[in-house]
Amino acid sequence: MESEQPDKAASGRQPLRYGTVEFLKSVYALNQLPEDNLPEVAFAGRSNVGKSSLINRLINRKGLVKVSAKPGKTQSLNFFVVDQRLYLVDLPGYGFARVSKELRAEWGELITGYLGDRAPLRCVVVIIDIRHPLKEQDHDLVTWLRDRQIPWLAVYTKADKLSRNEQSRQAAALDAALTIAPGQRVLFSAKTGEGRENLIAGLDTFLG
Ligand code: GTP
Ligand code: MG
Repeated sequence: MESEQPDKAASGRQPLRYGTVEFLKSVYALNQLPEDNLPEVAFAGRSNVGKSSLINRLINRKGLVKVSAKPGKTQSLNFFVVDQRLYLVDLPGYGFARVSKELRAEWGELITGYLGDRAPLRCVVVIIDIRHPLKEQDHDLVTWLRDRQIPWLAVYTKADKLSRNEQSRQAAALDAALTIAPGQRVLFSAKTGEGRENLIAGLDTFLG
């Protein structure tokens, strides 16, 4: 007897392969957000922390997301569509001092307006430089997400810049500062690709 295999792709349960990834659009105002209700994962972090590089490594396309020569490069919400099933959203960095106060306030409004009221948003990836103690703005973002019960995942990036011992020490310090367990974050390097599989698995848990 032939057993029938359920169509996994149709039920949306097959893990994402990050096989096809395309740039959809840059969003500068909330009324420009996509309306097709695909699930979204947003990538947040300080300016220059490596958000765009992380996305490029995740999707294994070197130049698809623009990487900064100067900090503050990403000024819009940039939407990429993965396997026709998911949006990755590259957010502008916070904490960049060289833009005007007004512009910073505008960015803040766009980002918090998006993150705080977005039904398709499944997870905010909070990207933190593993080399440094937790910055106040990272802490503020996580508190803000927790207050609103918005799901998030910590990624400690630029791991290639530290020895294994230093990685463990810094990761433990960041875990303590964020009050999370080691299972709730991913060690990552956009340079070497370390952590990519863990990041994919971590994101899958939010995508169900
Ligand atoms: P903004 O969009 O300006 O906020 O920056 P961003 O957070 O998107 O950072 P971006 O990916 O542009 O990277 C900033 C710099 O860090 C670039 O010079 C990258 O090459 C470098 N970089 C990013 N990730 C890593 C990493 O994992 N390891 C190393 N060694 N360098 C990295
Ligand atoms: Mg960027």
